[in-house]
Amino acid sequence: MFEELQIKGVYTYFKHNAWIKSTSKKTIKVYSPNDFKLAGEIQAVTKEEADEVIRNCSWAQQSWNSLPIQERASYLYKTADLAEKNYTFIAQILMKENGKSLLDAEDEVLRSAALLRQTAEEGLRLREELLRGDAFPQFRRGKLALVRRVPFGVVLAIAPFNYPINLAVSKIAPALITGNTVVVKAPTQGAISLLHFVELFRMAGLPPGVLNVITGSGSEIGDYLVQHNGVHMIAFTGSTKVGKRISQLAGINPLLLELGGKDAAIVLEDADLDLTVKEITAGAFSYAGQRCTAIKRVFVLDSIADRFAQKLVTAVEHLRVGSGEDTVVCPLISKEAGNYIQELVDDANKHGAKQILCKFRNNNLWSPVIFDHVNEQCRILWEEQFGPVLPIMRVKTAEEAIALTNRSEYGLAACVFTKDIEKALKIADQLDVGTVQINGKSARGPDHFPFPCIKSSGLGTQGIKYSIEAMTRIKNVVLNLH
Ligand code: NAP
Ligand code: G3H
Repeated sequence: MFEELQIKGVYTYFKHNAWIKSTSKKTIKVYSPNDFKLAGEIQAVTKEEADEVIRNCSWAQQSWNSLPIQERASYLYKTADLAEKNYTFIAQILMKENGKSLLDAEDEVLRSAALLRQTAEEGLRLREELLRGDAFPQFRRGKLALVRRVPFGVVLAIAPFNYPINLAVSKIAPALITGNTVVVKAPTQGAISLLHFVELFRMAGLPPGVLNVITGSGSEIGDYLVQHNGVHMIAFTGSTKVGKRISQLAGINPLLLELGGKDAAIVLEDADLDLTVKEITAGAFSYAGQRCTAIKRVFVLDSIADRFAQKLVTAVEHLRVGSGEDTVVCPLISKEAGNYIQELVDDANKHGAKQILCKFRNNNLWSPVIFDHVNEQCRILWEEQFGPVLPIMRVKTAEEAIALTNRSEYGLAACVFTKDIEKALKIADQLDVGTVQINGKSARGPDHFPFPCIKSSGLGTQGIKYSIEAMTRIKNVVLNLH
């Protein structure tokens, strides 16, 4: 099974249910963020090979779509079963490749299995509508609209490094259940884990051509794929920079874009500080803050700021740092990522923010950093840090916190901590973000919740039912009874 993924130590790409060696002879080395040792080599697939994959995928779509939906669902169920049987093995690969803790890596695989199952179930529940013509003036009763939901055709799914399996599966599952076929562009750092997960679909007996994976650097093959006329819909999760580029290149193809975030936590005077600190600690520092939904800035009311900052430092000091199984703060994905965060840290120091926690930085392994008294001049208040650094800014009023939260190019999520639910709801109304969490850290899950993005955080809404909607179009069939 998994041995077939490699030829002479190089991971192959996946086409027509077979693991294929690229003719490019060009490979990309993937190094583990844990120790910079080689995790494996993947291939740079050529444009001609990508053409063939997409052609093949398009060819498979008609027969896939004509299967009873129950049969399509059965492949998702079987793959979920296999994921649960093999989760430890795949999680270990993910841990090595992306520096996640084993617990987080296992969680990603198991979460993906659950996502497959629930997407299959939601697909089976998909409703189509019948509209009567005589509901509109001067139209007859015999005119009926059958409002169908049909697949687009070939979906191009692009996932980021931080959830290479889960954010690929969150696109593959809704696409497949609704009768689309899929070409995945694997994230380079994350490709090896994803290829292993895709082998599970093959083991589940998915018909050839229905799911395919292209590997290679996004900067080399990405533009070609997103402009390809054999692609009918693009679902992308990744940085705002690449997302904006895709939206410029993709023409009139439908897009689902989940991009960067700068989630703020607003802490009001009456917040339960123990709960708030617990949520903000997890929200800001798990997976070293390399989550789009990580809490990336805190606005706290002046009157409680000292107590809050003190409690937060105490809580964060106890986090375990390293690459072991039970660590919370992991290595950053690359040295370059660490260098960018260092730039933001230096800038905050330069602009008078007060560093209240920082123990060490060893290459790409950082212990958590907390800044208090951050001001508007600090870049870290506005730029997405994607690392374990949390800026706190003290504010005089809730209105000031709302204004600062909204003065961001991003609009993914925000959190409000207060015991006054009425006040929280009023604030939630005023925040320009996709999701507001009241008394909880921001998070994408549970995966059947909607995960909407606005502003530079993206376009459209992910989430089981919502992704199914996003991956189908409406087709209207009008019946005229005379
Ligand atoms: P990224 O650099 O944008 O890469 C994302 C994916 O796009 C990778 O598979 C990458 O391939 C590919 N890619 C790169 N250039 C491309 C191009 N020109 N055309 C098409 N695809 C291209 O993002 P990342 O560093 O992996 O992930 C971190 C970012 O993703 C953060 O900004 C984070 O906030 C965001 N994110 C958002 C969400 C959300 O749901 N809103 C979830 C997770 C992450 P290569 O790996 O080969 O470069
Ligand atoms: O990195 C972005 C992911 O969509 C975040 O997912 O909130 O489950 O960690 P998460």
